[in-house]
Amino acid sequence: MRLRPFGRTGWQVSEIGFGCWGLGGGWGSRDDEEGRRAIRRALELGVNFFDTAYVYGNGHSEKVLGETLRDWRGQVYVATKVPSKTMEWPPPPSTPAERAFPASWIVRCAETSLKRLGRERIDLLQFHVWLDAWLASQEWRTAIDLLKKQGKIRSFGISVNDHQPESVLKLVASGGLDSVQVIYNVFDQTPEKRLFPLCQEHGVAVIVRVPFDEGSLTGSLTPETRFQRGDWRAGYFRGERLAETCRRVEPLKKLLTPAVPTLAELALRFVLSHPAVSTVIPGMRKVSNVERNCAVSDGAALDARTLAELKKHSWPRNFYQGVWD
Ligand SMILES: NC(=O)c1ccc[n+]([C@@H]2O[C@H](COP(=O)([O-])OP(=O)(O)OC[C@H]3O[C@@H](n4cnc5c(N)ncnc54)[C@H](OP(=O)(O)O)[C@@H]3O)[C@@H](O)[C@H]2O)c1
Repeated sequence: MRLRPFGRTGWQVSEIGFGCWGLGGGWGSRDDEEGRRAIRRALELGVNFFDTAYVYGNGHSEKVLGETLRDWRGQVYVATKVPSKTMEWPPPPSTPAERAFPASWIVRCAETSLKRLGRERIDLLQFHVWLDAWLASQEWRTAIDLLKKQGKIRSFGISVNDHQPESVLKLVASGGLDSVQVIYNVFDQTPEKRLFPLCQEHGVAVIVRVPFDEGSLTGSLTPETRFQRGDWRAGYFRGERLAETCRRVEPLKKLLTPAVPTLAELALRFVLSHPAVSTVIPGMRKVSNVERNCAVSDGAALDARTLAELKKHSWPRNFYQGVWD
């Protein structure tokens, strides 16, 4: 597993990280034992960065991750997220910072996450949503400073609102954070325009989420796919969305070669080809996916021709709209 610097923190993180949303539930049937095996296999293969959240399965993801990491003696970085107190994804632009992230709420959520994870400190605490209008507020800063002073968190980041990479630019430019987590994949390439260069300029780490567009970019979905009961993607890919997405995935198969034989590999290599990226966190619940994704960390970048071809497949849209209302 290859390591990359995590912004200014001095950490060296695995370029393949572990997205833990699915461990909490909401993706159809849940199998905690398989989830634990997947985490253990990832650790064996050199993964040292794990991303979870307070809200994933009401804390179940944090618990499963924490229990499984307990016996691991190697270096591990655990990132979790505090939701907005208003539980809006994202909050309307008029929401005051004091309502979304009151200091007492941030501290209470961080302390709850710490207990669930069973760790001494949280390596990276992220806000699960962000509006740059909150930059001037002292309320959230007070809580972050306090948690750092108490040794409960080591660093602070933002998980950027879905498909809104420019909603965090002012905070990045202010130097007031350690990392951003953002959607970046073959379909949504917009972070390349302004967010990535700004992060590079200010030494802010970049965590890439949703590298597979919630599964479509692995090629495993077809227009006939029916999602299991309890799989939130029935909403994400509702109506014509699934068929349209599959139509957009199909031509990508022409870019596969003996060196890059699968769409999942192409999707991960696309993300890792950008130098601003510190780590990519595919959602994983199975040992087989962990093994396939970790194997991509071999330093073989996509060639310029393939990258230029992939540029043409950019497809900005927001399928999350309406899913969480
Ligand atoms: N707002 C936020 O902060 C936010 C929002 C979304 C996600 N995230 C974070 O980002 C992580 C990744 O995003 P995501 O899980 O939503 O989407 P994703 O990584 O784009 O896709 C996950 C899907 O890809 C499948 N998969 C993984 N590796 C595969 C492989 N090698 N071959 C075929 N299929 C493969 C998974 O399979 P299975 O179904 O079999 O597991 C799952 O269905 C999350 O786990 C979470 O930590 C954060």
